[in-house]
Amino acid sequence: MKCRVCRVPAVIDVRRHNAGFCANCFVKHCRDQLARAVESYDMFGPEDRILVAVSGGKDSLALWDMLLSLGYRADGLYLGLGIGTYSDESGSYARDFARSRDAELIEIDLPGRFGYDIPAGSAAARRAPCSACGLSKRHLFNQAALDGGYDVVATGHNLDDEAAVLLGNTLRWDLAYLGRQHPVLPAGNGFVRKVKPLVRLGEREMAAYCVIQDIDYIVEECPMAEGNRHLGYKNALNEIEDRSPGSKAAFLFGFLDRMAPLVQATAEAEREALHPCPGCGSPTVSEVCAFCKLVERAGGHLDDRTGHEVPVAAPTTRSSGRDGGRL
Ligand code: AMP
Ligand code: FES
Ligand code: ZN
Repeated sequence: MKCRVCRVPAVIDVRRHNAGFCANCFVKHCRDQLARAVESYDMFGPEDRILVAVSGGKDSLALWDMLLSLGYRADGLYLGLGIGTYSDESGSYARDFARSRDAELIEIDLPGRFGYDIPAGSAAARRAPCSACGLSKRHLFNQAALDGGYDVVATGHNLDDEAAVLLGNTLRWDLAYLGRQHPVLPAGNGFVRKVKPLVRLGEREMAAYCVIQDIDYIVEECPMAEGNRHLGYKNALNEIEDRSPGSKAAFLFGFLDRMAPLVQATAEAEREALHPCPGCGSPTVSEVCAFCKLVERAGGHLDDRTGHEVPVAAPTTRSSGRDGGRL
């Protein structure tokens, strides 16, 4: 197979585009896809300060690399979630990358700053690990962006992630989650804008990008995610994609173009009902926000630096599986 652009031998084929690419043209293809997503969803401009949430995995490191190469003002944020050696290793990949690009990396250690880690915290709060983890991440991404005066938070969710979340939300017809499933969530009511610039790029493309760009990343998946529903949806979509390449993109972009506008009213109504949490100040529809409830149940404490007390929580219902893809 030859490179679609320059006709030298290809190093990767992207079946969805029915095209092969040499290394140089592939890197350009990835950056072009990212630029197209940024432009078509109006994610950010050259003056915006971007906080990239980096997990040490391929997607978020590739995202950070592409944003820096394209000249954006992008700092990294790494959260130490206290998931044993997995967290130790993923943190060192994020740090090594930041050092190699002379880029700024903000680090927040969950056990050190909030007194709980994901394994113990999720068990104590009787939440599935990925649910406690997703909830903690959402809160901390937003808070770190507000504290640092960033305009936008960018995460490494890719096409495969978004299609799998969409499948899960559709199987349950979860209109609230479907209404929030978009590559851009606007700022407002205490929320910083959140964007997913990799929506047009697949997992395999991001792994290839890292290999070509010589970016070391943590290859193992999070040990707590094993067997969760999200991975099942990903596998199911991979089988469909194998038989008819392009299905995942058609599923996701068909939804974004044609269905999302119809379900967004549900999400907008929810946003209207938000008020600041008395514990931490984050926007919430409940009396006390879900993050404060989790911290209280996990036996932790709010960030010492804020001086807030942890409020007494109302009982929460047990949540299972991965969260519905709120950023
Ligand atoms: P995941 O939910 O693990 O699939 O991760 C989705 C995205 O969330 C990643 O691409 C990152 O942008 C971000 N993320 C996940 N884990 C962390 C972490 N420990 N620190 C900072 N960002 C993270
Ligand atoms: Fe959050 Fe695995 S990274 S539970
Ligand atoms: Zn709170």
